[in-house]
Amino acid sequence: MVTDLANLFRIKKSHIKPAAAVVARAFQDNAIFVHCMPDADTRKQILHHLFQFRLRCGVLYGEVYAISPNLEGLAVWFPSKHVQMSLWQMLRAGGFGFYLKAGDKLAATLHAIEEYILSFHRRLLDFPYWHLSPLAVDPPFQGRGHATALLKAMFARTDRENLPCFLETQNARSMRFYKRFGFRVIEKGVIPGTEIPHWAMLRESR
Ligand SMILES: CC(C)(COP(=O)(O)OP(=O)(O)OC[C@H]1O[C@@H](n2cnc3c(N)ncnc32)[C@H](O)[C@@H]1OP(=O)(O)O)[C@@H](O)C(=O)NCCC(=O)NCCS
Repeated sequence: MVTDLANLFRIKKSHIKPAAAVVARAFQDNAIFVHCMPDADTRKQILHHLFQFRLRCGVLYGEVYAISPNLEGLAVWFPSKHVQMSLWQMLRAGGFGFYLKAGDKLAATLHAIEEYILSFHRRLLDFPYWHLSPLAVDPPFQGRGHATALLKAMFARTDRENLPCFLETQNARSMRFYKRFGFRVIEKGVIPGTEIPHWAMLRESR
């Protein structure tokens, strides 16, 4: 079992495209994305672009780890100082290109959801932390301990550095999964305009 970041594969710019395809496959049935993009083909395409943007942000302003160079699963971590990105940082990571691909309406909907999610950070967290977003394992490789390995490797470091970790999820099964690692729900909400639950979860260092 991998328990150290040195045993994971750190993603660089050249891996972003295939890594985004993995994350898009993992999130194809995610409730928020199904709500925003009901058509499965559109969702597949847009998610690939969305996660290229997200991974580029991760490579530039955070740390992105994969289980191996085969990219079976990925974890994208941001230090709290880069959770709220400036316009310049987003443009540099390809935000404008994503906006053009998504179109006005979808980009505005996703932006409103992102703002809602960020409001939890602003309200609940006035200390340094690491933010996990997203954690994804390619569906054919799920259930083999990859997500557990990705999480434990980062916790070895955050525990050493005495830093908490924060994440959000809209999936009850994932919420229970995260509890296994010491995350607790610090606030529950509902994604605006939907009935999708939203759990904000914090894991203190040990
Ligand atoms: C959640 C996820 C990262 C787990 O990855 P994994 O490598 O299969 O996880 P592990 O093998 O380390 O651990 C297995 C546990 O993951 C959880 N899990 C497995 N598949 C899951 C799924 N589709 N959705 C939510 N949780 C799942 C279960 O709790 C499972 O435990 P169990 O077998 O005792 O029920 C993976 O299922 C995934 O990428 N899901 C889609 C994206 C997502 O929901 N990401 C996390 C929420 S932000």
